[in-house]
Amino acid sequence: MSDPIISSSEITPKHLYLTRRDFIKAAGAAAAGLALAACGLAPAGKTAAPAAATPQITPAGEAPNSFEEITHYNNYYEFTTDKEEVAGLAKSFATSPWQVEVSGLVNRPGKFSVADLVKRYPPEERIYRLRCVETWSMVIPWLGFPLARLLKDVEPASDARYVRFETIYKPDEMPGQKQSFYPWPYQEGLRLDEAMHDLTLLATGLYGGELPAQSGGGIRLVVPWKYGFKSIKAIVKIELTAEQPATLWNSIAPDEYGFYANVNPQVDHPRWSQSMEHRIGEPGRRETLLFNGYAEQVAHLYDGMDLRVNF
Ligand code: MTE
Repeated sequence: MSDPIISSSEITPKHLYLTRRDFIKAAGAAAAGLALAACGLAPAGKTAAPAAATPQITPAGEAPNSFEEITHYNNYYEFTTDKEEVAGLAKSFATSPWQVEVSGLVNRPGKFSVADLVKRYPPEERIYRLRCVETWSMVIPWLGFPLARLLKDVEPASDARYVRFETIYKPDEMPGQKQSFYPWPYQEGLRLDEAMHDLTLLATGLYGGELPAQSGGGIRLVVPWKYGFKSIKAIVKIELTAEQPATLWNSIAPDEYGFYANVNPQVDHPRWSQSMEHRIGEPGRRETLLFNGYAEQVAHLYDGMDLRVNF
């Protein structure tokens, strides 16, 4: 089972990341070099030539998608439902300064600027798979800090069971919010133990730099074992609650989008199979993994639960 976390000491600056094609070539060359070395056939005094830049890969051997792919194929309905138009429409959306209010069942509520949060919790690089419920996927090198660090500091009250997140509401700047079909603002939720899991990230950056508007700047959630719609963008409110919060997709189509939304190849969407996915930039399709490949880290959170009922 792969461990998706890569330490910040292994960060490769954005300009040194290889393109996917270069990565595949470099990986092939490295594998060939290793095979030769293992057989004792490497010429004396010579080791396999390193690639020009060390490819940043997850332990599962997956190359991150390019910055271009990650920032020009987006779901962000506040702007538009056209994935390739989001970047253009979000171009002048200001992501800094940005504030998040933490309220509800906590002993120390407060309003925090993202600038202060990144000083308090220095961002680390986490390279995670992202699997959209629509069956496409990417590998994304986020910068961020575990949500648990912020939650511990605001001290959840003993009756807090859930965390509710809300996206900014600015219809004058986000044209999609003028569409009254959707119950804006976008909201999402997690159980408190899911929110406290170390994989659950508040992302403030991408590829070693800032978090672009189309990717959810000023600050977004990333929950890598759940379908992408749980990873809410442009968060301005985090509220701890006793009851399970309403979420945007679940309130529109409860039969299609559950509260848990754990990636599960055995539980199909009513309108399509979830067993395979299309990794953006790759030909063909690959198998979808239970909990998006993070089962070893998170399956225990759902012990005793029927994942078909709690989908
Ligand atoms: N957050 C908000 N506020 N609005 C959205 O439309 N789309 C979700 C999620 N977060 C969405 C959102 C969906 S469906 C996915 S798959 C991911 O964002 C996509 O993230 P990306 O565009 O950074 O890849």
